[in-house]
Amino acid sequence: MDEILSVRGVGVNFGALRAVRDVSFEAQRGKITAVIGPNGAGKSSLFNLISGAIAPSTGQVFFEGSEVTGNSPDKMLRAGLSRSFQITNLFFELPVYENLRLAAQYLEQGRGWLRPVASSAQAEQRVRELIRQFTLHDKVNELAGYLSHGEQRRLEIAVSLASRPRMLLLDEPTQGMSHADTRETETLIRNLATEHGLSILLVEHDVDLVMNLSDHVVVMHQGQKLAEGTPEQVRANPQVQAAYFGEHQEKASC
Ligand SMILES: Nc1ncnc2c1ncn2[C@@H]1O[C@H](COP(=O)(O)OP(=O)(O)OP(=O)(O)O)[C@@H](O)[C@H]1O
Ligand SMILES: [Mg+2]
Repeated sequence: MDEILSVRGVGVNFGALRAVRDVSFEAQRGKITAVIGPNGAGKSSLFNLISGAIAPSTGQVFFEGSEVTGNSPDKMLRAGLSRSFQITNLFFELPVYENLRLAAQYLEQGRGWLRPVASSAQAEQRVRELIRQFTLHDKVNELAGYLSHGEQRRLEIAVSLASRPRMLLLDEPTQGMSHADTRETETLIRNLATEHGLSILLVEHDVDLVMNLSDHVVVMHQGQKLAEGTPEQVRANPQVQAAYFGEHQEKASC
């Protein structure tokens, strides 16, 4: 086993609300680890604690063996951990190409953040790779704001890969997507891990997606870790069934 991320006893309070309490788990390199749980379980808060958007009140986060607890998202990105948000975070008024170029410019930061992008060979090459990988050839000149919801979510994944991270954090990447877009995104995420060796931490509400895709599943409930294991182990856990799948099935049958 080769762990890339280790989360040890992290917690955060929002006033009196203990949104995340003493959560620990590990994510393995090149694998897909998922965090699932009902609405309000603390998934996005946990995601923000790991990505550096908020500092934990308790606990530690280690990435590739180094402690990164409370590091800013920018510092995390430099360390090789990138994130894609639950809410789309693109420049809607810019073309697809510019969204990718701005993100890829990160690769050139060490040699001058304010360099004109046109002169940045590394960034240009990365944009070309992403256009190919995400089959965006027909869309490069379209404004990001005019893409369909599914296309925007996928572009956001492409943007978060521009800096060549070793780990990608995704918060509900299929939220609001059609069934077809969800299946396409599922294939895309699987390929990122299996073909490109990327380590993925996926925060997701869609149980079926998680069960199809994940190597390891962490179940959150009311801010705490309820269980973890393979998709099969988690699905068979009576506590998880009561707290999550029971609710999911009830909702599904409504
Ligand atoms: N910045 C904040 N300030 C105060 N309370 C917050 C903040 N962020 C989240 N919360 C609260 O913390 C709890 C956990 O929220 P969180 O967004 O982490 O859940 P989630 O599992 O991601 O839910 P969802 O499935 O709806 O995305 C909720 O009760 C939420 O209202
Ligand atoms: Mg959330």
